[in-house]
Amino acid sequence: MFQAPKGTRDILPPESDRWQALVALFADVFGRAGYGLVQSPMFEDIGVFQRLGEGTEVVRKEMYDFFDKGDRHLALRPEGTAPVVRAFNQHRPTVPWKVWYLTPCFRYEEPQAGRFRQHHQVGAEAIGSPDPDLDVEVIALQHDFYQALGLSKLSLRLNSMGSPGDRQAYAERLAGWLAQQVRELDEADRANATDHPLRVLDSKRERTVTAIADAPLITDHLSDEAAVHFERVQAGLNALGVDYEIDPRLVRGLDYYTHSTWEFAAGALTSAQNAVGGGGRYDGLAESLGGKATPGVGFGAGIERILLAADAEGALADTSGAVDVFVVDVTGGDAGRDLTFELRRNGISADRAFDARSMKAQMKVADRSGARLALLVGEDELESGIVTVRDLRSGGDQTALPRTQVINDVAQRLAKE
Ligand code: HAM
Repeated sequence: MFQAPKGTRDILPPESDRWQALVALFADVFGRAGYGLVQSPMFEDIGVFQRLGEGTEVVRKEMYDFFDKGDRHLALRPEGTAPVVRAFNQHRPTVPWKVWYLTPCFRYEEPQAGRFRQHHQVGAEAIGSPDPDLDVEVIALQHDFYQALGLSKLSLRLNSMGSPGDRQAYAERLAGWLAQQVRELDEADRANATDHPLRVLDSKRERTVTAIADAPLITDHLSDEAAVHFERVQAGLNALGVDYEIDPRLVRGLDYYTHSTWEFAAGALTSAQNAVGGGGRYDGLAESLGGKATPGVGFGAGIERILLAADAEGALADTSGAVDVFVVDVTGGDAGRDLTFELRRNGISADRAFDARSMKAQMKVADRSGARLALLVGEDELESGIVTVRDLRSGGDQTALPRTQVINDVAQRLAKE
């Protein structure tokens, strides 16, 4: 028997009900702010993702790449931003282009709690404006989305990587500093010290963390332009009541960031994988993908981790996809089939039992279904043209109604809820 591949999961009901509720909330929060849904292919020319940076684990070690039958070198998307920027370059929509997405992401990582080889993100990108208020908008909407889900134990870390020039100058300064300390670093981080110094800041290895305690900080080396941008972002978050903490060591795992970077962590998650979403500005990405220089800002949030955090906080608990009405027919199935569809076609959620089972067996299924009402059709009902309506939540109160009045009656009862 086959199993799902290592590092992947099947998402089945009722977990998928919570999944849908989460996505609906996301679509609502971002839809009301003028963001439209974007869907783009699950795979791209590998070059699209190589621009995420030679220094990133995602590019160096984790890409699911392959050659198709036409010998094209393609890769499954490890993240959602580069494909959106590729689509932006290709279609040149009017700016700011504000979009959201729901996407699986594929990374060949070592699976552990909260880390998968296929995970899923909801995310948003706003492309075409350097205005720091757009950073604020995106961060505050992400914050409001978590709030709407009922998550309260989140913390937000914020940093600025400065302008592309600042970032470059800081990387060189850091590399110079690290060159003096290289023996103090964890062995696994030493190779990065010269080629990819920012990655060293990202290291969770204890020895490295201790060794870099006094490393120069990017926030001490921002250009005036970048400092003004960063201050405007902070002022906006303060005004909108979004709490954050500045963390000059937050560099994040992708190389395209300039100016704002941020990450939300779930206090309720004890595992190392407690980041429930992160993002930043990427003013050089469009150009590096062959388009016109165009600024952009956005974030991605991992659905699996958000649901783990929601579990830990008891949030998003009541999202049962239970139908309102369950139809029980022991007269051969015609009445059940027709009544169920009449309900559905009148906008009432309804389900039924199959396989012509006994009244007792069908009632058991009705009880388990979580439906509020059961409609019963037995031989007596069929003969007299009636249907028995049983209230499954109030100890089984019953009323017999003419078949022709049932839909109206059910609609009225449900409206009273
Ligand atoms: P990222 O930080 O690599 O950023 O991923 C975003 C979120 O996806 C993480 O905070 C986490 O919740 C989730 N995630 C990442 N990897 C895994 C995994 N292996 N298993 C489970 N969940 C995971 C990006 O992907 C950027 N595209 C975000 C962005 C958008 N920046 C600008 N715009």
